[in-house]
Amino acid sequence: MTGFVREFYSRIRRKFHITITSLFLLSMASFVVLLGTFTFKLLVSEGSSPCFPRLNRFPTSMSYPYSYILSNFGLPSSLPHPPFNSSLELKTLIRAPDHNSTLHSVTDDQEVKRRAIVVCPNVIVSSGNTTPKVAFMFLSRGSLPLAPLWEKFFMGHEGLYSIYIHTSPKFVDEPPVTSVFYKRKIPSKPVQWGNATMVDAERRLLANALLDCANERFVLLSETCIPVFNFTTVYNYLINAKQSFIGSFDDPRPTGRGRYNKQMLPKVSLADWRKGSQWFEVNRKLALNIISDEMYYPLFRNYCNPPCYVDEHYVSTLVNKISPELNTNRSITWVDWTNGGPHPTQYERKDVSMALLEGIRQVSNCTYNGHTCSICFLFARKFHPNTLESLLTMVPVLFGFNESNTM
Ligand SMILES: *[C@@H]1O[C@H](CO)[C@@H](O)[C@H](O)[C@H]1NC(C)=O
Ligand SMILES: *[C@@H]1O[C@H](CO)[C@@H](O)[C@H](O)[C@H]1NC(C)=O
Ligand SMILES: *[C@@H]1O[C@H](CO)[C@@H](O)[C@H](O)[C@H]1NC(C)=O
Ligand SMILES: *[C@@H]1O[C@H](CO)[C@@H](O)[C@H](O)[C@H]1NC(C)=O
Ligand SMILES: *[C@@H]1O[C@H](CO)[C@@H](O)[C@H](O)[C@H]1NC(C)=O
Ligand SMILES: *[C@@H]1O[C@H](CO)[C@@H](O)[C@H](O)[C@H]1NC(C)=O
Ligand SMILES: *[C@@H]1O[C@H](CO)[C@@H](O)[C@H](O)[C@H]1NC(C)=O
Repeated sequence: MTGFVREFYSRIRRKFHITITSLFLLSMASFVVLLGTFTFKLLVSEGSSPCFPRLNRFPTSMSYPYSYILSNFGLPSSLPHPPFNSSLELKTLIRAPDHNSTLHSVTDDQEVKRRAIVVCPNVIVSSGNTTPKVAFMFLSRGSLPLAPLWEKFFMGHEGLYSIYIHTSPKFVDEPPVTSVFYKRKIPSKPVQWGNATMVDAERRLLANALLDCANERFVLLSETCIPVFNFTTVYNYLINAKQSFIGSFDDPRPTGRGRYNKQMLPKVSLADWRKGSQWFEVNRKLALNIISDEMYYPLFRNYCNPPCYVDEHYVSTLVNKISPELNTNRSITWVDWTNGGPHPTQYERKDVSMALLEGIRQVSNCTYNGHTCSICFLFARKFHPNTLESLLTMVPVLFGFNESNTM
């Protein structure tokens, strides 16, 4: 009897012990889980600035609804979309573009445009297994004087960007085969400062960049532009942005409204008229809208002549007309107009310092996807070629990596 009681007692104790032990282990485990979650949260909130609620280096799904792009440009266009007839025809159309480093050699603008419009049907784009790319489109007279800085910027990010350069057709030099700019010149035509040939070149760049279906964002840059953040930051900022960055405002002065011509009525009214920096950033839908617009562009070509400059009014007015909700109305390319003249400040060797660049990087508060964000500008101009050497010494700080360690 006593033996039975003792055994019963010890069994209870053992059970109790096991329960206590498991309770202890359980609480330890949940503590660890809680701590883990907390630390993870801390790391995540520290690691991503409020600019990037969703820091996806490789977004798995497309952020834009593409289905309507081919069916509805939102614009009456005199350029009918040739109906797709067989996948064979489609293959012939896409044969040329840059799946390797060689660009096509089609020089006829209308033909490039036609291809650009039909080249990415819904089926290809919406499959979602392509990594979206940012197209960097350079408008330059000859070679890019700041190319070595851009090389550092692009280094190690192959597959996430495409480069297109529009130069004077007289310029035929190629950079070395190892350069990211090797064979990235598109078939170009002469550009005169201040008239429609400038916007023709922008549209030519867009049409060529649209031929690569992976390009999702399109940035127009000049030969005096520099990046002020590293590639990862620039890529995430653009790929995750819900709107595009096209400077657009209603300038009541003679340099704004004063340039409007009533002959653009009824299609473009004074209320539609906008002014903005030439250096835009657009998504695929707006890029398609810009190249396929045959309704407004002729009005600008005919009725916006100096002192009206097509490149300062066309894209901002067009986007204001057709898709104002897709624009942040601000440019992502910083420039200093504070000297008051007709041209912005050009930086020379003596002007370049980390303080100048930090000032551009943290210039003010901007709205980004509905939140306040400390990053307003990803690029800056105008940097004279003689600033290159100083800029290269700032690469470790500017791009957040130490060159002597990574090379
Ligand atoms: C469809 O393709 C055939 C041959 O592949 C061609 O003869 C015909 O013109 C095409 N139709 C259209 C509408 O493009
Ligand atoms: C690139 O593509 C073009 C056109 O398809 C082809 O002629 C050329 O040989 C290719 N170049 C390389 C390096 O693969
Ligand atoms: C642009 O300006 C040049 C002269 O500066 C002129 O010869 C040319 O015809 C103009 N082109 C257009 C499209 O207005
Ligand atoms: C940009 O400007 C247009 C036209 O003035 C306006 O409709 C739109 O709401 C503005 N967008 C932002 C983000 O302020
Ligand atoms: C940014 O916004 C915050 C809060 O709205 C404000 O305290 C700060 O002074 C602003 N900074 C600049 C540079 O405007
Ligand atoms: C890029 O810059 C950001 C800050 O702007 C930094 O947090 C990040 O580590 C940098 N990335 C690389 C790969 O250097
Ligand atoms: C880069 O690394 C080298 C060697 O590790 C070091 O001497 C140098 O100070 C570093 N430079 C910067 C800007 O961090």
